[in-house]
Amino acid sequence: MNILFIGDIVGRPGRTALESQLSNLKKQHNADLTIVNGENAAHGKGITKKIYQQILDWGADMVTLGNHAWDKREIFDFIDEVSNLVRPANYPEGTPGTGLQFIKIGNKKVAVINIQGRTFMTPIDDPFTIVDGLIERAKKETDIIFVDFHAEATSEKQAMGWYLDGKASVVVGTHTHIQTSDERILPNKTAYITDVGMTGPYNSILGVEKEAVIRKFKTGLPVRFDIPETDQTVLSGVVVKVDSKTGEAKQIKRILINDDHLNFE
Ligand SMILES: [Fe+2]
Ligand SMILES: [Fe+2]
Repeated sequence: MNILFIGDIVGRPGRTALESQLSNLKKQHNADLTIVNGENAAHGKGITKKIYQQILDWGADMVTLGNHAWDKREIFDFIDEVSNLVRPANYPEGTPGTGLQFIKIGNKKVAVINIQGRTFMTPIDDPFTIVDGLIERAKKETDIIFVDFHAEATSEKQAMGWYLDGKASVVVGTHTHIQTSDERILPNKTAYITDVGMTGPYNSILGVEKEAVIRKFKTGLPVRFDIPETDQTVLSGVVVKVDSKTGEAKQIKRILINDDHLNFE
């Protein structure tokens, strides 16, 4: 089974890049399952029901979120009504939504888990403890387990990768919006990458207008962050080959498509 994952979609440029490239990417990589991180899909901040539906219409099967999950208030109106959306599981009990969903691909079931780090982020519940319970629940139904670990610190992400080696099929990092080049198969057959990177405006700082970010660093004053309107985009992802009988990862490849033609797919 080939699992295609596309990193954080940022605003309209990210959505345009996804819409125009996803069906080709799915064909090219023979994707059986496509998962997209949508935490920044609505102007960098959260996701609306309309955009969630569009991401599925463009060819995704499942959408993951992160710390920006809650930025558009309408998330609270639909998160419990939809079944192809996961938010970080380690928000306190009672938080709307779920951090684990199952999806059927042919005659196989895949568990999709979203968790969030705590280092340099809002300190929510311990992701390591919470993920143990989720893996246990998932294992009762399937050996194919995909984890999007949405975290800032490379060390926390590596720790999660090693912690889940042999327990999950795939552990991908999201949130920093910068793709790392450390993709590998860990010894117990878990595919891992520290960060997949983002899909959005290419000439930007993490998807945001670069002038505003520079002004913020220079002045220390509050600055409004906007997403530049541009058709120059970067699309970042990975494709993972998983043995659908055992859930073991066989191969992980990075995808990076931008306007500098330093691309690999
Ligand atoms: Fe993000
Ligand atoms: Fe994030």
